[in-house]
Amino acid sequence: MNPLPGSPADVDQAAAVLHAGGLVAFPTETVYGLGADARNPEAVARIFAVKGRPADHPLIVHLADAGQLTGWAQDVPRAGWQLAEAFWPGPLTLVLHRQASVPDAVTGGLDTVALRVPDHPVALALLAAFGGGIAAPSANRYGRVSPTSAQDVREELGDAVDLVLDGGRCPIGIESTIVDLSSAAPRILRPGAITQRELCHVLGGPLVLDGLLATTPSKPLRFPGSKPSHYAPRARVILASREDAEQRIEEWRQRGQRVGILASRRPAALPENVTWLSLPGGIEEQAYALYRRLRQADHLGLQVLVAVMPPDVGLGHALRDRLRRAAGLGDDAGAHTELQQMIGAGQ
Ligand code: TXA
Ligand code: MG
Repeated sequence: MNPLPGSPADVDQAAAVLHAGGLVAFPTETVYGLGADARNPEAVARIFAVKGRPADHPLIVHLADAGQLTGWAQDVPRAGWQLAEAFWPGPLTLVLHRQASVPDAVTGGLDTVALRVPDHPVALALLAAFGGGIAAPSANRYGRVSPTSAQDVREELGDAVDLVLDGGRCPIGIESTIVDLSSAAPRILRPGAITQRELCHVLGGPLVLDGLLATTPSKPLRFPGSKPSHYAPRARVILASREDAEQRIEEWRQRGQRVGILASRRPAALPENVTWLSLPGGIEEQAYALYRRLRQADHLGLQVLVAVMPPDVGLGHALRDRLRRAAGLGDDAGAHTELQQMIGAGQ
């Protein structure tokens, strides 16, 4: 593997690697992607092999601009054009009816395809140089924390990727929002960097929210606690409120575990051998810091990470979703109730 900064010559080399069926990790404004030529099923198959990802788990195809959309999707509803116009390039992924020509390897055999135009100079330069769609999941091993720097990608994937374009740290640090426009009512499948409020503002109406992005959307798994964790550090993640965090820490310390706490405020009584992983005050800054901190928990060899849930405002919704999934809770009932309340309040 050859890490390169995102200069024009490097981008050309990366485009050549993609044309040859190779894998290129590249920065986006959200997280680093592990890219392959989306029209080349063998290249796409390598993504699944490297990530250890189940083959029915579909990928996002990254495009250079909204003009390419009809090469991949058909029957694009008005809402699709409105959202693309408002948020592309940007951290929004649209799920649309696919063109028959989209390889099954990309969509996991679904009749829909996920598309987005990323807002990062290196990603856009790569897309322009390559000239086609780049299929790219986050550049981490399946189930683990998404990488937000080139160094993270190297740690995750080592020599399994042919080339890493280094664009520094991802400015947002949490994945795109995914909106499904393939059925009558738009649905948020994964909360992310574009908030529900922003989406409703553009669409002029409410959206249906699924607390969970199912692996196979037609067969969602809805058993709280039964899901494998995603976005997860090695440490067991325990969700807490500010009020009960100290009690949770104590419980796990007494079981002889190496414990850390992820919180924006230092707990008043912090035992000596418990590590405080601090989050900044603002919610956007917390999104930027979250995955960095989860990786730090790994580097420190923590066994348990007590995470104080951020407030459910703006990006906080996506942060809470990621922490729930890191804890293996998926779409727990609490999250669903919160979402229903938001819809009811017309937010
Ligand atoms: O910010 C992001 O979205 C990053 C950057 C690299 O663009 N990508 C990313 O990809 O997070 P990934 O593969 O880690 O997550 C994409 C999610 C998956 O959970 C997948 O199930 C879902 O998108 N997805 C892809 N195609 C879909 C489809 N046709 N219908 C429903 N969900 C789909
Ligand atoms: Mg991912």
